[in-house]
Amino acid sequence: MCGIVGYIGEAQAAPILLDGLSRLEYRGYDSAGIAVYDGTDIQVKKATGRLKVLSELTHDGVTMPGTLGIGHTRWATHGAPTDANAHPHYNSTETIAVVHNGIIENYLKVKKRLQDKGYEFQSETDTEVVAHLLDYYYKGEPIEAITKVMLRLEGSYALGIIFRDHPDVLYAVRKDSPLIVGKGAEGNLIASDVPAVLKYTREVYFIQNEEIAVLNKEDISFRNVDGEPIEKEAATIEWDINAAEKGGYEHFMLKEIYEQPKTVRDTLNPRLKDGRIVIEELGMTDEEIRAIQKIHIVACGSAYHTGVTAKYVFEGLARIPVEVDLASEFRYRNPILEEGALVIIISQSGETADSLAALREAKTRGIQTLGIVNVVGSSIAREADKVMYTWAGPEIAVATTKAYSAQLVAQYLLALKFAQVRGTVTDQECEGMIGDLKKLPEQIELLLGSKERIQRFANRYVAARDVFFIGRGIDYAISLEGSLKLKEISYIHSEAYAAGELKHGTISLIEEGTLVAAVATQEALYKKTISNIVEVRTRGAFVMAVTNTGNTEIEKAADYVIYIPQTNRYFTNSLAIIPLQLFSYYVSVGRGCDVDKPRNLAKSVTVE
Ligand code: M6R
Repeated sequence: MCGIVGYIGEAQAAPILLDGLSRLEYRGYDSAGIAVYDGTDIQVKKATGRLKVLSELTHDGVTMPGTLGIGHTRWATHGAPTDANAHPHYNSTETIAVVHNGIIENYLKVKKRLQDKGYEFQSETDTEVVAHLLDYYYKGEPIEAITKVMLRLEGSYALGIIFRDHPDVLYAVRKDSPLIVGKGAEGNLIASDVPAVLKYTREVYFIQNEEIAVLNKEDISFRNVDGEPIEKEAATIEWDINAAEKGGYEHFMLKEIYEQPKTVRDTLNPRLKDGRIVIEELGMTDEEIRAIQKIHIVACGSAYHTGVTAKYVFEGLARIPVEVDLASEFRYRNPILEEGALVIIISQSGETADSLAALREAKTRGIQTLGIVNVVGSSIAREADKVMYTWAGPEIAVATTKAYSAQLVAQYLLALKFAQVRGTVTDQECEGMIGDLKKLPEQIELLLGSKERIQRFANRYVAARDVFFIGRGIDYAISLEGSLKLKEISYIHSEAYAAGELKHGTISLIEEGTLVAAVATQEALYKKTISNIVEVRTRGAFVMAVTNTGNTEIEKAADYVIYIPQTNRYFTNSLAIIPLQLFSYYVSVGRGCDVDKPRNLAKSVTVE
């Protein structure tokens, strides 16, 4: 995710900005930039790539004198990682500079309006609209301009802003994207995250939604969205830098598990408009969508598992036949790809060698391709005919959690969009499902709230030898991911089976005390799965079941039950996976494994 730092004080700003940004490098970024007021103008320097390049360009900040500045590390979302897209962004007269974290959802609409008024844009970013919009409303009073801009922006933002005409003030504002203010001995700071300021101060203010911070050399004050003064209490940070990088979480994996409500919201919200699904970047006409005869979903690992779920969703909602392939198989199996096919490649990194090769194979055959990718500007994003981004931000833990959740909802949106266009769901059904999608983030939050219960249960299984995950339909897809999560970070042997398949061999592995995780969220298959639970339990298994709230009957068959909130049957994966992720995490912690960097694994698999 992007990083923000800002400084106003007695010292030279640029070295402090570069140092602060270096403390945020762990968040992932692909370009960086700083803006410093030099006594006359606002100077901006940007560089694609590592922060080192920007440091070299500015001689560690020495060539950018001035005591007021803002800095940014950018993780590309709107527009490729280039110098032009890197922050800070100016207004046209270069008298206002802005850094931004988050996503401005209505930026295209705002951009169009500004262009109609004669504003010219230098980048493809959503951020640049903020600089020009500030310019549009600025009549000599920054707070007035900022509050007007806040009222016009939809989406999430943390902003650092400087005005050439107000060189004694640094402004900051946020909505749904974190921002803090640090009160230092020799100046004051803003940052998107605590580690950036810890070298200078431990006294921080947490900015709440729609609050504005106004920083001078000595003073800090706060305003609400109406520009009225508000009072805030400073907090003292007790964490060390290491803990602060993880936002106080013990591991990146846990932090990322907890980021899932936001990830899901960020991936959904920009595409839900007035009760309809709008996927602008898809660039497919309704006619093209209606012409799709078959979908091939191709991916690796967890991304493949989201595809297994999506098969049920696409087929159920849009009535389009779907084949799901592991990319390493697809590329060599000479697949039958006929006219009217759409190949969807799913990848967090956008660099997975087998997925990239599968994409190229489909393109060579003249088949249209769509990438569902998290990393903007990655190879798959560049080479696919169309790209739909997941807005999960950088994922640091090797075991994917938030990118997996974002991939799931991206595919729900796509399936529902296709269903809407093809007329396979009614407007009323669609409305109901959009309502269910919107509820997912808070339902995930609710599940995260019971982490202690899962932790206690996980502690009992740190010494397990084998664990089996079973389920039918979408529950089988959930089981595949639950099993992969557990084995990759805890090194416990684990397998997933379609519940009805057990009796064809696997059941012979069940012994007294073997843990079986049974997923039963599909009402139509619920009774069948209960029969399978009974089968393994009578052979000695200890059964942990994951089912929907209200299915209390399962308590007679299973030993331990986790309930997930009610949602549409196609979306249960997004909820059922949460306790399974937490379970794997706590088993791994309990076994003393390297949770974030499990042995033999890499985050991005760029070899065959
Ligand atoms: O970057 P990708 O989504 O293409 O990566 C695919 C798999 O390598 C990835 O999902 C892997 O299975 C994860 N470690 C699972 O947690």
